[in-house]
Amino acid sequence: MRIIHHKPTLRTAIASLRSAGKIALVPTMGALHEGHLTLVREARAVGAQVVVSIFVNPRQFGAHEDLDAYPRQLEADAALLAQEQVAILWAPGVEEVYPAGYATNISVSGVSEGLDGAARPGHFDGVATVVCKLFNQVQPDFALFGEKDWQQLAVIRRMARDLDMAYPLVENIIGVPTAREKDGLALSSRNAYLTTQEREQAPILAAAMREAIAAMEGGAAVGPALALVQDKLLAGGFSSVDYVALHDADSLTPLTELGKAPARLLVAARLGKARLIDNMAVRPLG
Ligand code: PAF
Repeated sequence: MRIIHHKPTLRTAIASLRSAGKIALVPTMGALHEGHLTLVREARAVGAQVVVSIFVNPRQFGAHEDLDAYPRQLEADAALLAQEQVAILWAPGVEEVYPAGYATNISVSGVSEGLDGAARPGHFDGVATVVCKLFNQVQPDFALFGEKDWQQLAVIRRMARDLDMAYPLVENIIGVPTAREKDGLALSSRNAYLTTQEREQAPILAAAMREAIAAMEGGAAVGPALALVQDKLLAGGFSSVDYVALHDADSLTPLTELGKAPARLLVAARLGKARLIDNMAVRPLG
């Protein structure tokens, strides 16, 4: 595995990798866990040479968010990726991605509004901008993202469609189901912020969501089912709830009742220093 920090070296390495076949990109911010490694394995399963990027993107963190505290462990991450037969680890510094004079922003309206877009103003502009740059730098045939960040995936697909991106084509942007601990907690680099006691409380999130989904799919009204999730989180040690919401799975339009199209239950809540997000499918009415 080659570890590359500068664009000219990347360009040459990508050209020679391309002569060996298709390329799949797995964009990450590092602090890799089993969820990221699942993305890498899925990338290899599409028959591509795998490039993983590690870049903690300052533009997607708000002024009071955890940019400085975000875990950075390049050596340990590189060792994990080498075991997964990754061809290139692309690990640029901030100056390489946003050199002096950098002035361009990508903003995707619609799907990036509401949910994390409302709770974290500017976050999805930062994500869309850096992902567009990573796509241009690596020019992958495929790109893989975790479904845990459901709204992020919708924003990236919208951007690729709207900008007529060819590397990758929108249909080659692959969403991979959320990897979970045995107790249901969605894997996330931010789980590292949880204390031992908070880690024991955290699975309430997935359990409350499953309960609400079973109720809604069984015919219960949406409003009370969502309120139940909020109550369980606050009673279970979470300090605040940013949102508990039901949305159309594709357009992310808010829903007040289940319809005939697939829906998604999405939640963001704070437990200690960690802001946990999760989402799950809700079956449409038969
Ligand atoms: O999901 C992430 O880790 C980041 O938002 C991404 C897609 C790597 C962009 O910085």
